[in-house]
Amino acid sequence: MACPPIRDGFWRGKTVLDVACNEGAYGIGALGHGAASLVGFDSRAANVEKARFVAEVLGHADAMFDQHTCDSWIAAYPDRTFDVVMLCGILYHLRDPARTIADYCTIAREWVFVTCCVHGDEQDGYTWTSETENVAASDGALDSLMPNNANTLVTEFGKHGFVPVHVEEVCKANFWDGASLLLRRCTDLGASWEELGGEHPEVQVHLAPGLRADGVGEVHMAFVHRTPRTREVTVRVRVLAGDGEEHAATEEVVSLPARCVDPSMPASTSVYRATPLPASVSRPATIEARVFDGSREIGGARIRLA
Ligand SMILES: C[S@@+](CC[C@H](N)C(=O)[O-])C[C@H]1O[C@@H](n2cnc3c(N)ncnc32)[C@H](O)[C@@H]1O
Repeated sequence: MACPPIRDGFWRGKTVLDVACNEGAYGIGALGHGAASLVGFDSRAANVEKARFVAEVLGHADAMFDQHTCDSWIAAYPDRTFDVVMLCGILYHLRDPARTIADYCTIAREWVFVTCCVHGDEQDGYTWTSETENVAASDGALDSLMPNNANTLVTEFGKHGFVPVHVEEVCKANFWDGASLLLRRCTDLGASWEELGGEHPEVQVHLAPGLRADGVGEVHMAFVHRTPRTREVTVRVRVLAGDGEEHAATEEVVSLPARCVDPSMPASTSVYRATPLPASVSRPATIEARVFDGSREIGGARIRLA
């Protein structure tokens, strides 16, 4: 399963927490791309030892690795915060993934980066899976609750105000299916979200405004396509001031890749756009993105910023 796409310079200066780091590949990779600092932990002592060794060999001697479970780390450091929290390869190894998501959303200042095996069910939810002891298993090799699909994770993070700018799902990874997500914190926006495009929109639109000191500077959009054929759609974005006056309007044609529904298909990957707003938008304001197939509206979203 792939990493979420990261814009050039994304890691520069970021503080990073690598949860369940194993030998630290993701976190040490972030340091290699300019992250300012790295803390990692894993429930297995042998993995922590490997991570320390790798970091030292690669010249990152100040990276910190400790032995902890997800539960013991958050209990020990409830007030520490990080720009980016990595939850890679861990959410399907837990008995209560929703609680761990809730815990780590409180300490992610800006971003959460997720890779996760998923069970592959159409219906959202979780499925119990059994594990056997190995270096990558659940703590104590206990049975764990695997998310059924990427949308289960999108919904779970959404409860804590994190909006995806990237969603990817494959129908066959090495053993189960896989999902990867990059989610942005939107909790401090004073915003409310609304889905557009009817009861069963064919395209889900996730909108995350990017804030600057002087207002809203850009809007991040991830389009997740629900049908198994590629198609071209028109995306109309409008920004309205509190009195309803139009601040800005853009229109572009976007090619949405087919949704992956069988193992022979390539991964479904959301289309990501970061649209700078022409003038930094002051609040209150409304930002809406509507998706059209010809004249038919097939999805969209609206955010109201108080
Ligand atoms: C599939 S590996 C993923 C490792 C790494 N994050 C990656 O994506 O390459 C799962 C890791 O989680 C660790 N682990 C399992 N349950 C854990 C828990 N409850 N708390 C902390 N680490 C755990 C395992 O020891 C293993 O290193």
